[in-house]
Order: sequence, then structure tokens, then C-alpha cells
Amino acid sequence: MFITLEGIDGSGKTTQLNLLAAWLQEQGLEAVITREPGGTPLGEKIRLLLLSPEDGPKTAVAELLLYAAARAELVQRVIKPALQAGKIVIADRFNDSTWAYQVWGRGLDPLWVKEVLSGTTDGIKPDLTLLFDLVPSVSLSRIKRGDRLEQENLDFFQRVRQGYLALAQEEPERIRLIAADRSVSAIWTEVRAEVETLFTKIC
Ligand code: TMP
Repeated sequence: MFITLEGIDGSGKTTQLNLLAAWLQEQGLEAVITREPGGTPLGEKIRLLLLSPEDGPKTAVAELLLYAAARAELVQRVIKPALQAGKIVIADRFNDSTWAYQVWGRGLDPLWVKEVLSGTTDGIKPDLTLLFDLVPSVSLSRIKRGDRLEQENLDFFQRVRQGYLALAQEEPERIRLIAADRSVSAIWTEVRAEVETLFTKIC
């Protein structure tokens, strides 16, 4: 079972991922937790590069290919083996991030990005994606504005959010839209309900 968490920076998805991981453990379920970019030795090095304001890519194409390289390693070395072993995988970001940030945010050619993504992910698709939705003016006020991406302007994050919302409209079964402008516990109640629904569908 493959669950991904998505949303613009500052949407609170990582807090919910930690709650989900702890809850799964309480249920006696083994879950593999990943994050992107990162999650493998090479991926973590690429993450440092991608998030660095000084050393990070200066072109959108190089940026896309670095995210894709980190994901290719993560899929082959971590996600695919875990899914084949019947484990639950929870991913902090996956393909939808690339679609929202690199296609909608940066304006890269969607057909080309689709090709790159399909060559990167080896046919692996999430069973459920929880999309934490928040207006960028609120999400940006929550973050430290330190790394390369966090320094992007409001327009950029508005485009990224539109990209996510368009994806959610296209795939409402897989992508569950979660209003992230509420308390952590209210959001968590909804997250748990979505995951429980998936369990009853799949198990
Ligand atoms: P995060 O791990 O704190 O969410 O930060 C990762 C940053 O990288 C975030 O700004 C989103 C961005 N990103 C992309 O632009 N494209 C991608 O494919 C991924 C996985 C992340």
C-alpha cells in the first residue's frame, strides 16, 4: 500500500505524516517512511544541493532532473522493494510535487515532464494521496524562508497550488483534498478517516 502526502511548503503535511506513522505503529503495522528529495544516501546529497540557495540549480531543467534522479534511486532502492515485501509505504512528496512545482510553478513542458516521470517511477503509483491545501499567504507565514524554494515569491506558490488543485480535480478518487487551515487534531481526524477507508477498500 502506497500513500503520499502532498502540499505547498508550510501546509503542515510533515506534522500529519508523523502522526500517521505513530498511529500505524500503535496498530502494529510496519510502515516505511520516505521523504523527497531524499530517503537514500544519494537522494539526501541531492536534497542538500536542491535546497541550497547558493549551490542549488539555476535552471528549471537541471532542477527537474535532480528531483528525478533522487526519485529514481528512492523508487528502486526503497519504495519498490518495500511494496514488493507487502509493506505500507508513506511518502512525504512524490510525482505530484514535480507536476505542481516544475510544470505549474516553473512552466516546464508537461509532455516532457510526464516522460521523465514515467521513466523515473517504474509504473509505481500511489493508492492514496492526501493533499493538504492552504492559501500560500498563510503557508508562507508559517515557514522559516530559509531554503532555496522557501525564497520563491507568492506568485510561484499560487501557481503551484493551482497545479495541485487541478490534479485533485482530475483524480478525485486518488487525491483527497484536505483543508489545512484547521487545527492539527481536526486535520488528523480526517487523515485517519481517509487511511481507514483505504484499508477497508484494499484489505
Ligand atoms: P520539503 O521536503 O520540506 O517539502 O521540501 C522540498 C522542496 O522541494 C519543496 O519546496 C518542494 C520542492 N520539490 C519540487 O519542487 N519538486 C519535487 O519533485 C519535489 C519532490 C519537491
